[in-house]
Amino acid sequence: MQDLRTIILAAGKGTRMKSSIPKVLHEVCGKPIIQYVLDIVKSIGSLKTYIVLGHKSNLVQNYLPKDKIIIEQKKLLGTADAVKCTANYFRSYSGNVLILCGDTPLLNKNVIRSIVRRHKRSKAVCTFLTAVVHDPQGYGRIIRDESQKVVAIREEKDAVGFEKDIAEINVGVYCFKSQELFKAIKDVKPNNKKNEYYLTDIIELFFLKGCKIETVETDDPFEGLGVNSREDLALAEEVIRHKILRKIMSQGVTVVDPNTTYIDANVKIGKDTTIRPFTYIEKNVRIGEHCIIGPFARIRVDTKIGNNVDVGNFTEISRSKIGSNCFMKHFSYLGDTFVGSHVNIGAGMVTANFDGKQKHISRIADHAFIGSNSTLISPVRIGKKAVVGAGSVVTRGKVVPDGRVVVGVPAKIVEKKEEK
Ligand code: UD1
Ligand code: MG
Repeated sequence: MQDLRTIILAAGKGTRMKSSIPKVLHEVCGKPIIQYVLDIVKSIGSLKTYIVLGHKSNLVQNYLPKDKIIIEQKKLLGTADAVKCTANYFRSYSGNVLILCGDTPLLNKNVIRSIVRRHKRSKAVCTFLTAVVHDPQGYGRIIRDESQKVVAIREEKDAVGFEKDIAEINVGVYCFKSQELFKAIKDVKPNNKKNEYYLTDIIELFFLKGCKIETVETDDPFEGLGVNSREDLALAEEVIRHKILRKIMSQGVTVVDPNTTYIDANVKIGKDTTIRPFTYIEKNVRIGEHCIIGPFARIRVDTKIGNNVDVGNFTEISRSKIGSNCFMKHFSYLGDTFVGSHVNIGAGMVTANFDGKQKHISRIADHAFIGSNSTLISPVRIGKKAVVGAGSVVTRGKVVPDGRVVVGVPAKIVEKKEEK
């Protein structure tokens, strides 16, 4: 969109989180909150994105992609002040500006698009998103007159009497005519209980000047969820988790019990795979078709699993790659390991991949058979069709040649009969 720029407000302290890391870096389903907002901005094709940072800005900056324009808000004086900090970048710009809060991970790109569309069509000075919610506590309330025209947004702390009962809230997504925004923002005063410059006060200023204000109401009660506390964080996690599960099921994956299945954002699972209860699949995992995962499995970051693989109960796989047609059915741990295809990993097998200082990589080739209760002290290599006997310990640096059998502690090659 050539005439649209975006500002993301993310300077706040997030006091209610009681955290040593900035609020917007907290993860929801394995993805930082601000990344959800960045993904939305990307999908609507805004020309430029300005991100206002303040509290522990270096931590957020380190996370952000390098093409974003970062603006430092030196003193956290409120959301209107945060917008004011960007003014220099908008001097010669006469298009529209979309403003989002960095703490709203549940925004829907289609709704954001419809705000921008409505804004352009109606020629309003400001179009913003509202939601009618069950529990409006903590949000700005939308004050309307008898003809339903928006008069003001009243923040929770300043709401009095009937205003507290208003269920229509401000989500924190606004589209402004840039010139009008930066003119009016100078007139916002910190006349409220928190002595902050509220961006939301600009609505009343526009109303008093007779400017056109439009609203779009979302029918999703969770879309407006701003993560301000740990409780909000858990709620966002629950909502997004079920969204992810619904999407995965719609792609042909069986999730036996969505209530006990945890799948992070950015996980891909092939069709006809079944995820059994009490399974946790972390971000950037890829699982092929016709697999059975769980119950009680934990598949950790960056793991890749091929087709027709069974990963059974009490198993953990971390940063590993498993080829197709493998079995790993009971009580095993695979870390930093490349496994070929048609491999059997026996019950209780463990890779000891961490030596106290660093992690090491092991390789298990096609058709290998790793016996029950064996330990591979990484790095090791298990050859094609090789066998590790039950209870063996394959010590660090060991290479088991193709087709050979090792047993014992430490594991030794069993000589072939003809070699005796
Ligand atoms: C804000 C809105 C409220 C709305 C809610 C939706 C204001 C005054 N209120 O309240 O109407 O219902 O969002 O979630 O805008 N920030 C800065 N600089 C500051 C202060 C805040 O960049 O000086 C950023 C924060 O990092 C955050 C966003 O602005 O991402 C909103 O601030 P927050 O403190 O979360 O405001 P809310 O109380 O949630
Ligand atoms: Mg908030």
